[in-house]
Amino acid sequence: MPVCRRKVTIVGAGNVGATAAQRIAEAGVADVCLIDVVEGLPQGKALDLAEAAPLQHHDQVMVGTNDYTDTTESDVVVVTAGLARQPGMTRDDLLLQNAQIVRGVVAKAVHYSPDSILIIVTNPLDAMVHVALETSGFPRERVIGMAGVLDSSRFRAFIAQDLGVSSSDVSAFVLGGHGDTMVPLPRHSTVAGIPLPELMKPERIEALVERTRNGGAEIVSLLKSGSAFYAPASSVLHMVDSILNDRKRVLPCAVLLRGEYGVDDVVVGVPVVLGAAGIERIIEVSLTADEQKALQASAGSVRSLVETIGKATTA
Ligand SMILES: NC(=O)c1ccc[n+]([C@@H]2O[C@H](COP(=O)([O-])OP(=O)(O)OC[C@H]3O[C@@H](n4cnc5c(N)ncnc54)[C@H](O)[C@@H]3O)[C@@H](O)[C@H]2O)c1
Repeated sequence: MPVCRRKVTIVGAGNVGATAAQRIAEAGVADVCLIDVVEGLPQGKALDLAEAAPLQHHDQVMVGTNDYTDTTESDVVVVTAGLARQPGMTRDDLLLQNAQIVRGVVAKAVHYSPDSILIIVTNPLDAMVHVALETSGFPRERVIGMAGVLDSSRFRAFIAQDLGVSSSDVSAFVLGGHGDTMVPLPRHSTVAGIPLPELMKPERIEALVERTRNGGAEIVSLLKSGSAFYAPASSVLHMVDSILNDRKRVLPCAVLLRGEYGVDDVVVGVPVVLGAAGIERIIEVSLTADEQKALQASAGSVRSLVETIGKATTA
Protein backbone atom coordinates (compact mmCIF):
# COMPACT_ATOMS: atom_id res chain seq x y z
CA MET A 1 0.00 0.00 0.00
CA PRO A 2 1.40 3.45 -0.83
CA VAL A 3 2.36 5.39 2.27
CA CYS A 4 0.70 8.76 2.52
CA ARG A 5 2.04 11.05 5.22
CA ARG A 6 -0.50 13.54 6.50
CA LYS A 7 0.42 16.81 8.14
CA VAL A 8 -1.39 18.75 10.83
CA THR A 9 -0.26 22.23 11.86
CA ILE A 10 -1.22 23.34 15.34
CA VAL A 11 -1.03 27.08 15.88
CA GLY A 12 -0.42 27.83 19.55
CA ALA A 13 1.91 25.54 21.50
CA GLY A 14 0.21 26.13 24.83
CA ASN A 15 -1.77 23.63 26.88
CA VAL A 16 -4.40 22.66 24.30
CA GLY A 17 -2.06 22.89 21.31
CA ALA A 18 0.80 20.84 22.74
CA THR A 19 -1.54 18.21 24.20
CA ALA A 20 -3.38 17.92 20.87
CA ALA A 21 0.01 17.49 19.17
CA GLN A 22 0.80 14.65 21.58
CA ARG A 23 -2.57 12.96 21.06
CA ILE A 24 -2.42 13.22 17.24
CA ALA A 25 1.13 11.87 17.04
CA GLU A 26 0.58 9.08 19.55
CA ALA A 27 -2.56 7.98 17.72
CA GLY A 28 -0.44 7.74 14.56
CA VAL A 29 -2.85 10.03 12.72
CA ALA A 30 -0.43 12.59 11.23
CA ASP A 31 2.91 14.38 11.38
CA VAL A 32 2.61 17.52 13.48
CA CYS A 33 3.97 21.03 13.04
CA LEU A 34 3.64 23.07 16.21
CA ILE A 35 3.94 26.84 15.76
CA ASP A 36 3.81 29.69 18.29
CA VAL A 37 4.93 33.31 18.60
CA VAL A 38 7.09 32.48 21.62
CA GLU A 39 10.57 31.54 20.47
CA GLY A 40 11.78 28.15 21.66
CA LEU A 41 8.43 27.02 23.08
CA PRO A 42 7.17 25.02 20.06
CA GLN A 43 10.69 23.81 19.30
CA GLY A 44 11.17 22.55 22.87
CA LYS A 45 7.77 20.85 23.06
CA ALA A 46 8.12 19.24 19.62
CA LEU A 47 11.58 17.94 20.52
CA ASP A 48 10.30 16.52 23.80
CA LEU A 49 7.41 14.80 21.96
CA ALA A 50 9.80 13.44 19.31
CA GLU A 51 11.99 11.97 22.03
CA ALA A 52 8.96 10.13 23.42
CA ALA A 53 8.18 8.57 20.01
CA PRO A 54 10.35 5.45 20.48
CA LEU A 55 8.55 4.71 23.75
CA GLN A 56 5.12 5.52 22.38
CA HIS A 57 5.72 3.43 19.25
CA HIS A 58 4.99 5.97 16.56
CA ASP A 59 7.00 7.39 13.70
CA GLN A 60 5.30 10.73 13.23
CA VAL A 61 7.53 13.68 12.43
CA MET A 62 7.29 16.45 15.04
CA VAL A 63 8.39 19.97 14.09
CA GLY A 64 8.40 23.02 16.34
CA THR A 65 8.78 26.42 14.70
CA ASN A 66 8.06 30.15 14.66
CA ASP A 67 8.19 30.24 10.85
CA TYR A 68 5.04 29.66 8.77
CA THR A 69 7.00 28.29 5.80
CA ASP A 70 7.39 25.11 7.92
CA THR A 71 3.61 24.72 7.93
CA THR A 72 3.46 24.45 4.12
CA GLU A 73 0.91 22.00 2.69
CA SER A 74 -0.73 21.02 5.92
CA ASP A 75 -3.88 18.93 5.48
CA VAL A 76 -5.43 20.33 8.64
CA VAL A 77 -4.61 23.51 10.59
CA VAL A 78 -5.77 23.63 14.20
CA VAL A 79 -5.92 27.14 15.70
CA THR A 80 -5.45 27.26 19.47
CA ALA A 81 -3.52 30.54 19.56
CA GLY A 82 -4.99 33.14 21.84
CA LEU A 83 -5.16 34.75 25.22
CA ALA A 84 -7.02 33.56 28.24
CA ARG A 85 -8.97 36.16 30.19
CA GLN A 86 -6.78 37.96 32.73
CA PRO A 87 -7.93 39.91 35.79
CA GLY A 88 -9.19 43.33 34.72
CA MET A 89 -9.99 42.24 31.18
CA THR A 90 -13.55 42.45 29.95
CA ARG A 91 -15.08 39.76 27.77
CA ASP A 92 -14.94 42.20 24.88
CA ASP A 93 -11.21 42.79 25.45
CA LEU A 94 -10.61 39.07 25.10
CA LEU A 95 -12.93 38.91 22.12
CA LEU A 96 -11.17 41.71 20.26
CA GLN A 97 -7.64 40.60 21.13
CA ASN A 98 -8.29 37.00 20.16
CA ALA A 99 -10.06 38.11 16.99
CA GLN A 100 -6.88 39.97 16.05
CA ILE A 101 -4.70 36.95 16.86
CA VAL A 102 -6.95 34.53 14.96
CA ARG A 103 -7.10 36.89 11.97
CA GLY A 104 -3.30 37.11 11.88
CA VAL A 105 -2.55 33.40 12.27
CA VAL A 106 -5.27 32.24 9.86
CA ALA A 107 -4.05 34.65 7.15
CA LYS A 108 -0.51 33.25 7.42
CA ALA A 109 -1.53 29.61 7.76
CA VAL A 110 -3.86 29.56 4.75
CA HIS A 111 -1.24 31.31 2.61
CA TYR A 112 0.98 28.25 3.04
CA SER A 113 -1.83 25.65 3.13
CA PRO A 114 -4.53 26.91 0.76
CA ASP A 115 -6.25 23.52 0.54
CA SER A 116 -6.29 22.80 4.26
CA ILE A 117 -9.23 22.29 6.57
CA LEU A 118 -9.27 24.68 9.54
CA ILE A 119 -10.30 23.57 13.01
CA ILE A 120 -10.77 26.55 15.31
CA VAL A 121 -10.39 26.12 19.08
CA THR A 122 -9.68 29.66 20.35
CA ASN A 123 -12.42 31.27 22.44
CA PRO A 124 -14.95 32.78 22.19
CA LEU A 125 -15.27 29.85 19.84
CA ASP A 126 -18.22 30.55 17.59
CA ALA A 127 -17.19 34.16 17.00
CA MET A 128 -13.62 33.05 16.19
CA VAL A 129 -15.00 30.69 13.51
CA HIS A 130 -16.61 33.75 11.90
CA VAL A 131 -13.23 35.53 11.96
CA ALA A 132 -11.51 32.50 10.41
CA LEU A 133 -14.18 32.18 7.71
CA GLU A 134 -13.84 35.81 6.75
CA THR A 135 -10.04 35.84 6.83
CA SER A 136 -9.48 32.59 4.96
CA GLY A 137 -12.22 32.99 2.38
CA PHE A 138 -12.58 29.20 2.66
CA PRO A 139 -15.99 27.61 2.13
CA ARG A 140 -17.89 26.82 5.32
CA GLU A 141 -17.18 23.10 4.85
CA ARG A 142 -13.49 23.76 5.61
CA VAL A 143 -13.77 26.07 8.64
CA ILE A 144 -14.98 24.11 11.62
CA GLY A 145 -15.19 25.00 15.29
CA MET A 146 -14.42 22.58 18.10
CA ALA A 147 -16.81 22.88 21.04
CA GLY A 148 -19.66 20.41 20.74
CA VAL A 149 -17.37 17.38 20.81
CA LEU A 150 -16.01 18.65 24.13
CA ASP A 151 -19.39 19.64 25.56
CA SER A 152 -20.93 16.30 24.61
CA SER A 153 -17.95 14.39 26.01
CA ARG A 154 -18.38 16.21 29.31
CA PHE A 155 -22.11 15.41 29.31
CA ARG A 156 -21.36 11.75 28.48
CA ALA A 157 -18.80 11.51 31.28
CA PHE A 158 -21.26 12.93 33.85
CA ILE A 159 -24.10 10.63 32.67
CA ALA A 160 -21.81 7.58 32.81
CA GLN A 161 -20.55 8.45 36.31
CA ASP A 162 -24.08 9.06 37.54
CA LEU A 163 -25.51 5.80 36.16
CA GLY A 164 -22.39 3.72 36.85
CA VAL A 165 -22.10 2.61 33.22
CA SER A 166 -19.37 2.73 30.61
CA SER A 167 -19.07 6.11 28.94
CA SER A 168 -18.61 4.21 25.66
CA ASP A 169 -22.28 3.25 25.85
CA VAL A 170 -23.42 6.83 26.39
CA SER A 171 -24.21 9.01 23.44
CA ALA A 172 -25.09 12.67 23.99
CA PHE A 173 -26.62 15.16 21.61
CA VAL A 174 -25.86 18.87 22.02
CA LEU A 175 -26.61 21.87 19.85
CA GLY A 176 -25.83 25.56 20.08
CA GLY A 177 -22.93 27.67 21.25
CA HIS A 178 -20.05 26.66 23.49
CA GLY A 179 -20.68 26.67 27.24
CA ASP A 180 -23.48 28.86 28.64
CA THR A 181 -25.60 28.76 25.51
CA MET A 182 -25.23 25.04 24.83
CA VAL A 183 -28.57 23.37 24.01
CA PRO A 184 -28.53 19.72 25.09
CA LEU A 185 -31.20 17.39 23.75
CA PRO A 186 -31.71 14.70 26.43
CA ARG A 187 -34.41 12.96 24.36
CA HIS A 188 -31.75 12.32 21.68
CA SER A 189 -29.13 11.29 24.26
CA THR A 190 -29.00 7.57 24.90
CA VAL A 191 -27.39 4.82 26.92
CA ALA A 192 -26.91 1.81 24.63
CA GLY A 193 -29.82 3.10 22.55
CA ILE A 194 -32.13 3.72 25.54
CA PRO A 195 -33.29 7.36 25.63
CA LEU A 196 -31.88 9.13 28.68
CA PRO A 197 -35.29 10.25 30.05
CA GLU A 198 -36.14 6.55 30.54
CA LEU A 199 -33.17 6.11 32.86
CA MET A 200 -32.98 9.38 34.77
CA LYS A 201 -35.41 11.75 36.43
CA PRO A 202 -35.78 15.17 34.73
CA GLU A 203 -34.23 17.02 37.74
CA ARG A 204 -31.16 14.78 37.60
CA ILE A 205 -30.78 15.32 33.86
CA GLU A 206 -31.10 19.08 34.38
CA ALA A 207 -28.39 18.98 37.08
CA LEU A 208 -26.00 17.20 34.71
CA VAL A 209 -26.87 19.60 31.88
CA GLU A 210 -26.08 22.52 34.18
CA ARG A 211 -22.78 20.94 35.22
CA THR A 212 -21.92 20.45 31.54
CA ARG A 213 -22.75 24.08 30.73
CA ASN A 214 -20.37 25.15 33.49
CA GLY A 215 -17.83 22.41 32.71
CA GLY A 216 -15.13 24.85 31.62
CA ALA A 217 -15.66 27.17 34.60
CA GLU A 218 -15.59 24.23 37.06
CA ILE A 219 -12.11 23.29 35.83
CA VAL A 220 -10.86 26.90 35.78
CA SER A 221 -11.93 27.34 39.40
CA LEU A 222 -10.06 24.17 40.40
CA LEU A 223 -6.90 24.95 38.42
CA LYS A 224 -6.83 28.62 39.56
CA SER A 225 -4.82 29.52 36.47
CA GLY A 226 -5.36 28.24 32.96
CA SER A 227 -8.26 26.21 31.65
CA ALA A 228 -9.12 22.67 30.56
CA PHE A 229 -6.87 21.06 28.00
CA TYR A 230 -6.90 17.24 28.19
CA ALA A 231 -10.51 16.81 27.04
CA PRO A 232 -10.25 19.70 24.55
CA ALA A 233 -7.15 18.07 23.04
CA SER A 234 -8.94 14.71 22.80
CA SER A 235 -11.81 16.48 21.05
CA VAL A 236 -9.39 17.94 18.50
CA LEU A 237 -7.93 14.45 17.90
CA HIS A 238 -11.42 13.05 17.24
CA MET A 239 -12.14 15.69 14.63
CA VAL A 240 -8.73 15.43 12.94
CA ASP A 241 -8.98 11.62 12.85
CA SER A 242 -12.47 11.72 11.32
CA ILE A 243 -11.26 14.13 8.61
CA LEU A 244 -7.92 12.53 7.76
CA ASN A 245 -9.24 8.96 7.85
CA ASP A 246 -12.50 9.99 6.15
CA ARG A 247 -14.44 8.24 8.92
CA LYS A 248 -17.60 10.31 8.38
CA ARG A 249 -18.23 10.43 12.10
CA VAL A 250 -21.33 12.28 13.19
CA LEU A 251 -19.98 14.91 15.57
CA PRO A 252 -21.37 18.19 16.91
CA CYS A 253 -19.29 20.97 15.35
CA ALA A 254 -19.58 24.75 15.06
CA VAL A 255 -20.43 25.59 11.47
CA LEU A 256 -21.85 28.52 9.54
CA LEU A 257 -25.56 27.84 9.08
CA ARG A 258 -27.41 28.98 6.00
CA GLY A 259 -31.00 28.44 6.95
CA GLU A 260 -30.55 25.08 8.65
CA TYR A 261 -32.36 24.97 12.01
CA GLY A 262 -33.93 28.33 11.06
CA VAL A 263 -30.57 30.10 11.56
CA ASP A 264 -28.97 32.13 8.80
CA ASP A 265 -25.39 33.37 8.50
CA VAL A 266 -24.40 32.55 12.08
CA VAL A 267 -21.98 29.92 13.36
CA VAL A 268 -23.74 27.48 15.66
CA GLY A 269 -22.95 23.99 16.91
CA VAL A 270 -24.92 21.28 15.08
CA PRO A 271 -24.37 17.61 14.28
CA VAL A 272 -22.41 17.15 11.06
CA VAL A 273 -20.84 14.34 9.08
CA LEU A 274 -17.09 14.95 9.25
CA GLY A 275 -14.98 13.40 6.50
CA ALA A 276 -12.16 14.05 4.05
CA ALA A 277 -13.94 17.10 2.62
CA GLY A 278 -14.53 18.59 6.06
CA ILE A 279 -18.21 19.13 6.81
CA GLU A 280 -19.87 16.78 4.34
CA ARG A 281 -23.42 17.13 5.61
CA ILE A 282 -25.36 18.95 8.29
CA ILE A 283 -27.81 16.71 10.07
CA GLU A 284 -31.10 18.40 10.91
CA VAL A 285 -33.53 17.06 13.48
CA SER A 286 -36.86 18.60 14.37
CA LEU A 287 -36.84 20.66 17.54
CA THR A 288 -39.52 21.43 20.08
CA ALA A 289 -40.56 25.08 20.47
CA ASP A 290 -38.40 25.39 23.63
CA GLU A 291 -35.35 23.86 21.95
CA GLN A 292 -35.79 26.13 18.93
CA LYS A 293 -36.03 29.15 21.23
CA ALA A 294 -32.85 28.14 23.07
CA LEU A 295 -31.02 27.64 19.77
CA GLN A 296 -32.15 31.06 18.52
CA ALA A 297 -30.90 32.63 21.77
CA SER A 298 -27.57 30.87 21.30
CA ALA A 299 -27.32 32.14 17.72
CA GLY A 300 -28.31 35.64 18.90
CA SER A 301 -25.45 35.80 21.40
CA VAL A 302 -22.94 34.71 18.73
CA ARG A 303 -24.35 37.32 16.34
CA SER A 304 -23.85 40.10 18.90
CA LEU A 305 -20.19 39.10 19.44
CA VAL A 306 -19.62 39.13 15.68
CA GLU A 307 -21.19 42.59 15.49
CA THR A 308 -18.86 43.82 18.25
CA ILE A 309 -15.87 42.59 16.24
CA GLY A 310 -17.27 44.22 13.10
CA LYS A 311 -17.74 47.59 14.83
CA ALA A 312 -14.21 47.49 16.29
CA THR A 313 -12.74 46.62 12.89
CA THR A 314 -14.50 49.47 11.09
CA ALA A 315 -13.98 52.02 13.92
N1 LIG B 1 -13.26 25.50 22.00
C1 LIG B 1 -13.08 24.92 23.16
O1 LIG B 1 -13.85 24.07 23.57
C2 LIG B 1 -11.87 25.29 23.99
C3 LIG B 1 -11.43 24.45 25.02
C4 LIG B 1 -10.29 24.80 25.73
C5 LIG B 1 -9.61 25.99 25.41
N2 LIG B 1 -10.08 26.78 24.43
C6 LIG B 1 -9.40 28.03 24.05
O2 LIG B 1 -8.22 27.67 23.35
C7 LIG B 1 -7.27 28.71 23.49
C8 LIG B 1 -5.94 28.13 23.96
O3 LIG B 1 -6.07 27.59 25.27
P1 LIG B 1 -4.76 27.06 26.03
O4 LIG B 1 -5.21 26.55 27.34
O5 LIG B 1 -3.94 26.22 25.13
O6 LIG B 1 -4.00 28.46 26.26
P2 LIG B 1 -2.43 28.67 26.47
O7 LIG B 1 -2.27 30.05 27.02
O8 LIG B 1 -1.84 27.52 27.20
O9 LIG B 1 -1.85 28.64 24.97
C9 LIG B 1 -2.09 29.63 24.03
C10 LIG B 1 -0.84 29.73 23.16
O10 LIG B 1 -1.12 30.61 22.07
C11 LIG B 1 0.09 31.29 21.78
N3 LIG B 1 -0.14 32.47 20.97
C12 LIG B 1 -0.65 33.68 21.35
N4 LIG B 1 -0.68 34.50 20.27
C13 LIG B 1 -0.19 33.81 19.22
C14 LIG B 1 0.03 34.10 17.86
N5 LIG B 1 -0.27 35.31 17.37
N6 LIG B 1 0.56 33.15 17.06
C15 LIG B 1 0.85 31.91 17.55
N7 LIG B 1 0.68 31.57 18.84
C16 LIG B 1 0.15 32.51 19.66
C17 LIG B 1 0.66 31.61 23.16
O11 LIG B 1 2.05 31.93 23.08
C18 LIG B 1 0.38 30.30 23.89
O12 LIG B 1 1.47 29.41 23.80
C19 LIG B 1 -7.90 29.74 24.46
O13 LIG B 1 -8.53 30.76 23.70
C20 LIG B 1 -8.94 28.91 25.19
O14 LIG B 1 -9.98 29.71 25.71
C21 LIG B 1 -11.20 26.47 23.72
